[in-house]
Amino acid sequence: MPTSYRDGDNGAAGPGPGQKIATANRYTRNNRLLEGMRFFAFDSFEGFPELKADDVHSQFRTGGRAFSLQQFHSHIQKIGVPEGSVTAVPGWFSASLAPGQDADRLVPDASLAVAWVDCDLYESTRDALPFVFRKLRPGGLVIFDDWYCFEGHPMKGEQRAVRELLEDDPAVVLVPFHRFGWHGTSFIFHHSDDPIPGGRGIAAC
Ligand SMILES: C[S@@+](CC[C@H](N)C(=O)[O-])C[C@H]1O[C@@H](n2cnc3c(N)ncnc32)[C@H](O)[C@@H]1O
Repeated sequence: MPTSYRDGDNGAAGPGPGQKIATANRYTRNNRLLEGMRFFAFDSFEGFPELKADDVHSQFRTGGRAFSLQQFHSHIQKIGVPEGSVTAVPGWFSASLAPGQDADRLVPDASLAVAWVDCDLYESTRDALPFVFRKLRPGGLVIFDDWYCFEGHPMKGEQRAVRELLEDDPAVVLVPFHRFGWHGTSFIFHHSDDPIPGGRGIAAC
């Protein structure tokens, strides 16, 4: 995590057992970036929701990847995250990340330095993204863990959800940043009151 991300908080949508949020927490502590930084984990803690037709894939099943809230907390503590340093918000994104809910009150608008979206499915990403885009600060980093799931199909999974959200809000600008592994990519987030020509937020891909 670059030092420019020290100003702001850290949120993960779909943290599962918490491996990645624990790594981010450890990194910020080891590099003395932690002061004032908060960590949030948003998850059903019941695994995947009922799969809609567009998300059917041999790797996913309803209830798959389920880690209870208790398992999440004991796992991140076991791998070195001090108790109380991650705020977990349980619930299905369609409800838990809606305006006026606890998550909305906990995380001020335009305050997140890093948002890690790791919920694999199109429907789930579609539900999470309005919150993510509302909460990211300008210049913040949005990481998509599953960008190349569904064999990299641009009209499936996270790619489809992002494409649609950018059509809904042409003022969102995503600047391609860094790819990782076979599966993930990231963007630097900006929000412009002057929509970029063509109304598509991805500057290049
Ligand atoms: C692949 S797992 C994440 C693995 C995790 N990042 C790790 O580091 O081990 C996907 C997570 O997304 C959550 N999830 C998927 N769709 C969701 C939704 N619509 N609402 C809430 N949580 C969801 C699941 O419960 C699961 O924990």
